[in-house]
Amino acid sequence: MKKFSILIAGGGSTFTPGIILMLLDNLEQFPIRQIKMYDNDAERQAKIGDACAILLKERAPEIEFSYSTKPEEAFTDIDFVMAHIRVGKYPMRELDEKIPLKHGVVGQETCGPGGVAYGMRSIGGVIDLINHMEKYSPNAWMLNYSNPAAIVAEATRRLKPNSKVLNICDMPIGIEVRMAEILGLNSRKDMDIMYYGLNHFGWWKSIKDKAGNDLMPALKEHVAKYGYVEKKGDSQHTDASWCDTFAKAKDVFAVDPTTLPNTYLKYYLFPDYVVEHSNKEYTRANEVMDGREKFVFGECDKIVKNKTSNNTELHIDEHASYIVDLARAIAFNTKEKMLLIVENNGAIVNFDPTAMVEIPCIVGNAGPEPLVVGAIPQFQKGLMEQQVSVEKLTVEAWIEGSYQKLWQALTMSKTVPSASVAKAILDDLIEANKGYWPILK
Ligand code: NAD
Ligand code: G6P
Ligand code: MN
Repeated sequence: MKKFSILIAGGGSTFTPGIILMLLDNLEQFPIRQIKMYDNDAERQAKIGDACAILLKERAPEIEFSYSTKPEEAFTDIDFVMAHIRVGKYPMRELDEKIPLKHGVVGQETCGPGGVAYGMRSIGGVIDLINHMEKYSPNAWMLNYSNPAAIVAEATRRLKPNSKVLNICDMPIGIEVRMAEILGLNSRKDMDIMYYGLNHFGWWKSIKDKAGNDLMPALKEHVAKYGYVEKKGDSQHTDASWCDTFAKAKDVFAVDPTTLPNTYLKYYLFPDYVVEHSNKEYTRANEVMDGREKFVFGECDKIVKNKTSNNTELHIDEHASYIVDLARAIAFNTKEKMLLIVENNGAIVNFDPTAMVEIPCIVGNAGPEPLVVGAIPQFQKGLMEQQVSVEKLTVEAWIEGSYQKLWQALTMSKTVPSASVAKAILDDLIEANKGYWPILK
């Protein structure tokens, strides 16, 4: 079997060690000859990189490993770029969350004004990665899960329509892991699903077992009582704030009991509840900096100090194996059915053909072939029209440097009560994002 060369872009990410351990766990299905890392923060990447070098030497010495901040070095001789950058890192995420909250509006990484602000920072960073890939490894594919994926995907559609970039999100996977547990199935892959929406904004319309039996009634009964809370949970979303989100899915489900919702819909359908339950001084970014970031960097420091990864508490990011499924689908033409963020192009027949939607696709060596979803109900269509307009206006604002369009984008968000609140938030965000956003006229 061919052995692949992988570049992890955003090498300094808190997810990098878990993903490397996951790749090592999957070498039989997806052989690897080389892993490289790329980041624009040399110091942050070196802390993760030096630990990963030790870990790889001990567990898979045959794999070549290096890390670099130089595009040519990093992007040369690569088959797959796995991209998870966070432009502005956690201090900017903290502002994305706290600035809207100061104005009484949802403060969230990817939803509402915080997501728009993050999008305005991410577009340039992700486009740079694509340019590097196309210059130094023109045959490579990029598997991108850098957020905010909805806005990033729309930007790649507008600016890089012919590039080999696949945009993917792990939230439906995390929820499907929980669904399988609720149903007593061994794996989420025992379910045959139909899902549609935008990224962080979607619904399951059908879930069946492999024999074709309808699993929706049993799931709905559970979700109506407990949301997606169940005994075991998924490996990615374990903190208390995530548990609240899974429980709140009960109320989100009640608004449309014909489908099962993505957890992120709570920010759009219950923004008042979310704001009331937020701490303006201590948001999710603070939780992550005090939790995951301290843990991962602390463990990496220990590995380097002890010169061994024996006894490390770093663990395999099991749920990230969807990245291997996606790479395998491209490399080995497996034709696996996966949820990807792709141009609608008629798949949802009564929705904007140019919208980037999250829908099931059959993935093979030529890329994704989206499945037909058909017509969607008025409720979902109305919500999606509004949200996709936020995303498209944000990308237009970035391309044109337009203050007016970004104000319209924020005004359009269901999380924002009025154009005047939108303007006040926008002016604060512009100040906070100096040097990251294009200059708006
Ligand atoms: P992190 O801040 O720990 O890591 C991000 C890294 O990207 C940092 O080391 C930073 O220096 C680097 N970076 C920033 N701008 C860059 C640029 N222009 N070029 C190269 N490197 C750059 O963040 P994290 O919490 O580990 O998350 C990483 C990313 O993965 C985020 O975008 C997050 O939203 C995303 N994510 C997505 C999903 C999904 O479902 N799509 C799931 C989990 C995380
Ligand atoms: C889910 C989403 C990701 C998001 C992450 C945030 O997995 O699908 O897109 O980045 O949650 O998690 P965090 O632990 O950083 O708040
Ligand atoms: Mn996501």
